[in-house]
This record gives sequence, structure tokens and C-alpha cells, in this order.
Amino acid sequence: MTNIGVSITGSGSAIPKLSLDNQQLSQIVETSDEWISSRTGITKRQLADTTESLCSLATQASLAALDQANITPKDIDLIILATSTPDDLFGTASQVQWELGAEKAVAFDMTAACSGFVFGLVTAAQFIRSGVYQNVLLIGADILSRWVDWEDRRTCVLFGDGAGAVVLQASESDRLLGFELRSNGSQNDCLNLPFQPQEKKIIEGVTVSQGTYQPIIMNGKEVYRFAVQKVPEVIEKALFKANISVDKIDWLLLHQANQRILDAVASRLNIPSEKVISNLQNYGNTSAASIPLALDEAVRKNQVKSGDIIAASGFGAGLTWGAVIFEWNGI
Ligand code: UT7
Repeated sequence: MTNIGVSITGSGSAIPKLSLDNQQLSQIVETSDEWISSRTGITKRQLADTTESLCSLATQASLAALDQANITPKDIDLIILATSTPDDLFGTASQVQWELGAEKAVAFDMTAACSGFVFGLVTAAQFIRSGVYQNVLLIGADILSRWVDWEDRRTCVLFGDGAGAVVLQASESDRLLGFELRSNGSQNDCLNLPFQPQEKKIIEGVTVSQGTYQPIIMNGKEVYRFAVQKVPEVIEKALFKANISVDKIDWLLLHQANQRILDAVASRLNIPSEKVISNLQNYGNTSAASIPLALDEAVRKNQVKSGDIIAASGFGAGLTWGAVIFEWNGI
């Protein structure tokens, strides 16, 4: 087959059990529901408890996506798990593969923070377009509550946990219409979760770094400025590559970081607010999970319908950012 196309044919999501609202947060740090709601649009977030893992959330989201796409785990050729918070630093994708019983699938983790889902979508598409694989499962999942400093009001109010997944399949017509991906490591210190080394002398003359990771560090103002400037640009580039104009977009699906960022990007692109998908009010910023989680909710609410054109954009740590334009081809 020449000119193999890519279709996104199913979505699923999984939300952890615990819920923490702004009022409860104000008992932990000096903040208020008023401050959090007006500055971010977030009113509550779901958090993984000690019985839930990245693997369990990712598996649950995947099963729902496979069911919607009407394929079984045994049909999957490749699993990509976009995450920054694996259960195992060596990678969690193989555990998900095993839990699903996806016997023939090869599985690996991919890290691009809050851009992970968009970067993963483009990566998955390359394997399909090259004719190597037909059915790819892409998961975006994060448990940032593990790495948040619960005493830092500048960050702990923003994040939540969750997982979302989509199925990509080879198809005759190509529904992945255009994309653009970018990175800029010079601004890495605006948002990171750095390794904190401690010297350990193992033998005379041989000292290595051992340690753990520091909690999330963020310069909110800088990241806000970056997002509002770079996201409209990258969407415009992806639209140019897709050869479609902005008015043809049915839905703007941004990484769910802050309602003010969603509004500012939509306004710069002249996209009316009724085309903007938003669910961050209930979940906060779930990093790599936020785009597939919002997509899945919109699909299951029958907001997004087969044939709709979606402009999705992720942005965050790295710094990384990217956009992908696709036509939804699920239910
Ligand atoms: O996945 C991508 C990740 N990150 C983002 O997209 C984050 C982008 N940035 C943002 O969303 C916003 O910058 C924030 C929501 C993080 C902060 O909003 P802001 O309007 O930029 O507030 P600010 O950082 O300028 O802080 C204003 C004030 C400060 O007090 P002073 O210095 O003016 O007295 C902060 O100390 O608000 C204070 N503040 C808080 N007050 C109550 C900061 N956090 C809180 C809080 N509760 N949780």
C-alpha cells in the first residue's frame, strides 16, 4: 500500500478516585477558592491514592479507547506511553502492555512533559505512515501529585492526576492533516523537575551522583508568557502545513493548563469560545493526560463528532510545544 493514511478511531480516559477542591487546598497552603478560580479556572482536581498507579490508570484508559475503536489488545502493534511520572524510571509502557494482554505489541515510554501527547501522536503516525504498524495505542498519563511540593502554593494548586488514550489506525484517507513540533532547552529552568544529586564516594577516586528528584519548580509568569505567544504561532504553522484556514477548525483542544491561557490563545486566533474544549475546572493540569482526557469527555458527551476537525496543542516543560491538526474519526 502506498500513501498510507492515519485515522484516530477511539478514545478513553481514567480518573483517579480522590477529589481535592480549592477549599480543601486552602487548609494546606495560604490560598483561596477565589484566587485559584479567578487566576486559573480550576475548582478541583482528582488525585491518585496509594492503591492507584500510573500503570493502572493508563491500562483503564486504554481499555476504554480500544473498546471504542472496536479492536482488541491482541490487535495492537505498538504502545506509546507519554508520561513524565512513570512507576518505574526504566519505563512503565511494558507493564501496561502486559496488563492489557497486548501480546504482539512493542511498548515504550516517551517524555515530553505536557507536550507528550502531541509529540506522541506525531511519533505514532510516523510508524503507521511508513507501513511498519497498523494499530497503535497512544496513552498520555501523569501522576504529578507524586512530585508536587504540597507546601508551595504557586504550584500545588495547579496540578491533578489522570490518563487518556487514543487508538491510531492505518487508513486509506489521511486524517492527520498537519503538525509542527518545537523545543527550546534554553528556558528549561522555567519549569522543571530536576535530579538533585548527592555525591557518593564508592571507592577512592570514584565519586558518583546519587539522589532523588526535587519537586516541580515553575516560573508561572514566564511559562504563561511563553504559552500565550508560542501556542498560537505553532497552531498557525500546523494549519499552514495542513493547508486549511482557521475558520475550518471545529474544535480548539489545548493542553488544559489555565483557562486564561485557553481564552488568550483562542482570542489571538479568532476562534470563538464555543469551539474551545475545556474541562480543567474539574481536573486541573494533568500534564500529558490533559488533551486525551478532554478529547474523550467531549467525544462521550457527543460534542466532538466523526468528521470534526480538531486543532490540538500541547506546551510545557522542556520547554516543548507543538500542534497537530486532525479529523476525528471515532464514534
Ligand atoms: O503545563 C504548563 C504548566 N504551567 C502553566 O501553564 C502555568 C502558566 N502560568 C500560570 O498559569 C499563571 O502564571 C499562574 C496561575 C501560575 C499564576 O498566576 P499569575 O496571575 O501569573 O500570578 P503571579 O504568579 O503573578 O502571582 C500573583 C500573586 C503573588 O503575590 P504578590 O507577589 O503579588 O504579593 C503570588 O505570591 O499571587 C500570589 N500567589 C497566590 N496567592 C494565593 C501565587 N500563588 C497563589 C495561590 N494563592 N495559590
